Order: sequence, then C-alpha cells, then structure tokens
Amino acid sequence: MNAPYLSEKLRQEIASADHPAEYAVDVMFALQRHYGYLSDEALIEGAQLLCMTPLELEELATFYDFLYREPVGRYVIHVCNNLVCWMHGHESAMDHISTRLGIPLGGTTEDGMFTLLPASCIGFCDAPPAMLINGKPYGHLTAEKIDTILERLREEKPPLVEVR
Ligand code: FES
Repeated sequence: MNAPYLSEKLRQEIASADHPAEYAVDVMFALQRHYGYLSDEALIEGAQLLCMTPLELEELATFYDFLYREPVGRYVIHVCNNLVCWMHGHESAMDHISTRLGIPLGGTTEDGMFTLLPASCIGFCDAPPAMLINGKPYGHLTAEKIDTILERLREEKPPLVEVR
C-alpha cells in the first residue's frame, strides 16, 4: 500500500470487528478515497486486509452505485432513475446531460471533468428529477438548470476524489 498510515488505520478498525467482512464496504470506500477508484490492485489490497477474496469484494462492490471500478471524472454525476424521478422527466434530464457532455451513460468526458452514472433513489424524491454531483443534490432539473450547473462546475476546482 502506498499509504502505510491508511493501511494501519484500516487494520485497527478491522481488528475491532467480530467479523472482518463487516468492514468491507468501509474499507472499499477508504481505498477509493485514497486511489480515486477501486482498481484491481486496490481490491486485492482490501481483500488481503479483510481476509476475503477479491471476488467476494468485487461482488459486494457491484451493489453500490458509489463504488467505482474504473477511473471517474472530477465530477461524478449520478442521475436518479428510480420511480418518482422516472415519472417526472428523468429521461430527458439524463439525455440533456449526456448530449451536453457528449458522453453516454457510464462515460467520462475526454477532459476528465465529468462522469455520468445512474443511481437508484438518492432521497430527493420531493424534487424530481434529481441528481447528485459529488454527493451534492440538485432537484427539479430542467435543461436550463442543468446547463447553469455544468457551466458553474467547469469554472470551479473540485477535489479529485468524491467524498462518500
Ligand atoms: S426517486 Fe429520484 S430521488 Fe427518489
């Protein structure tokens, strides 16, 4: 591990658990925060810390919209595709973002600024359609609102790694 302090910290947390696997998700998020995404190497590292197999961790990771197995952009956009948002224009919001950024769902812009991903309900059902950008919610999305948000973000300097 490139970060001995993180490794030691995680080891201590895992040691305090009855079952190391209880910490699997926390460990994966910690590694993702450190490396930017969960590479194969990071997954192996986590598996060793947890006394699990990389495959077991991989299977767990697939359940979480916010764990990334591939590099992501500076801004990760999660557009909610759950029922309420779906009924209130999720598709046109998603299409608009996709067109504006020139990337398909799951894609990252060439400049590494934006990644577009789907998400199940993000808890913003009273303001559909909704999305999260690096964990910050935006609701009542319209084409104009989306343009303003994207424009503003292009001018900001965000952290490289999304905070959980
Ligand atoms: S259904 Fe979209 S935020 Fe809940």
